Amino acid sequence: MELIDGKAIAATIKKEIAAEVEKIIAQGGKRPHLAAILVGHDGGSETYVANKVRACEECGFTSTLIRYEDDITEEQLLAKVDELNNDSDIDGFIVQLPLPKHIDEQKITEAIDYRKDVDGFHPVNAGRLAIGLPCFLSATPNGIMELLRRYNIETKGKKCVVLGRSNIVGKPMASLMMQKQIPGDATVTVCHSHTQDIAGECRNADIIIAALGQPHFVKADMVKEGAVIIDVGTTRVPNATRKQGFRLCGDVDFENVAPKCSFITPVPGGVGPMTIVSLMKNTLLAATHQIY
Ligand code: GUN
Repeated sequence: MELIDGKAIAATIKKEIAAEVEKIIAQGGKRPHLAAILVGHDGGSETYVANKVRACEECGFTSTLIRYEDDITEEQLLAKVDELNNDSDIDGFIVQLPLPKHIDEQKITEAIDYRKDVDGFHPVNAGRLAIGLPCFLSATPNGIMELLRRYNIETKGKKCVVLGRSNIVGKPMASLMMQKQIPGDATVTVCHSHTQDIAGECRNADIIIAALGQPHFVKADMVKEGAVIIDVGTTRVPNATRKQGFRLCGDVDFENVAPKCSFITPVPGGVGPMTIVSLMKNTLLAATHQIY
């Protein structure tokens, strides 16, 4: 069994991006600039956004954090999105989700100029991914593809089971794994809450990508000997012995599953750090107009 070290790969990629940025600056170019809008004080969102701002610093990007209280109106938020769309200094921006109930997330996502949508959530980017055109790729699936690439994990002709059908992870992940490319060229099955025999589907899989948000859902008896396991789960489970009061729990019963695998990602330190690095990559692509 080989542990996939997302933290180490992410650190390497951040250095690669920083070197690229310095080259751009040396040639008289502009420093990439990412903006993030954070509404309210959700603990998870606060952490994610703080990590994104820190990653910008590590990559040599400029970052702008725009904060609002929970009571911001949809109109006010739409006006800010419009302002960022038209700010030529901002190369890309994100609106951290979830948003308060009174704001329509889809409306906000669609208001973002798809050429600045470094999250890859806009229907134009999601649609272009589905038909294999260049686009901003959703960060978590793109980070997973990078891990598969850097660990030379064979995907061509392999049976890949994706657990979860979210717009952010499951659907784009399935698209990327079935794409005519390497990594890719896999035979993909997407499982969800109405799948009849998830355990049976998993037992057939060469690669399992678990993105359900259900702690320890994937058990050892659901995994084929030699399978590749990618764990996207990051549920916060209360834990009094931890300084933060919780620990992150993956969708995979790591302790019992790991001995059966050829490769497995840990939680934390697997997929998580790659997600942020993918956002940095998209921002660099936006700043250098490599997609649009
Ligand atoms: N909430 C959880 N993950 C994400 C993400 O990747 N981007 C945004 N904007 N919000 C999120």
